[in-house]
Amino acid sequence: MNLLERLGGPAEVRAVTDELYDRLLADEELGPLFTSTHMPTMRVRLGDYLIGACSGEVTVTAERLQAAHAQHGVNDRHFSIMAGHLADLLEGSGIDDETTADVLDLIADRRSDVVSHSHVADEWNPVDDSV
Ligand code: HEM
Repeated sequence: MNLLERLGGPAEVRAVTDELYDRLLADEELGPLFTSTHMPTMRVRLGDYLIGACSGEVTVTAERLQAAHAQHGVNDRHFSIMAGHLADLLEGSGIDDETTADVLDLIADRRSDVVSHSHVADEWNPVDDSV
């Protein structure tokens, strides 16, 4: 069974995405990052992304994820807060621990595309330059 099936299928992933956004918008640190974002579109896009990723498809390029997030200044702390909300939500929905861990791993794979500073650090590493 792939990860999408283990989560209960596309409709379940849409429900998780909706609930995740409700929590992100209510979060005092993350909520303000979405003030200029058209949320109905975002819910569809992240849902599409997660459904694809959970089926093993890469539907959004690194460049596109970087461009979408760089302008909002998403940092490592924001990323960790989001991952925490997602973990709480999956656990609260009765998803087993192994499946939750696999979803978090999937999200973590894109950390350097979403977080502006990790991406800069990937490209320009002063430690490597001095070797
Ligand atoms: C860490 C906290 C995050 C915040 C605060 C955040 C915020 C945002 C915002 C504000 C946008 C809208 C960009 C715009 O249209 O102006 C966006 C787009 C998007 N985000 Fe995030 N994001 C986060 C993490 C993630 C993660 C972890 C993923 C997936 C691994 C993700 C996937 C996407 C996708 C697929 C889009 C739509 C890109 C497009 O198709 O144009 N985001 N995000």
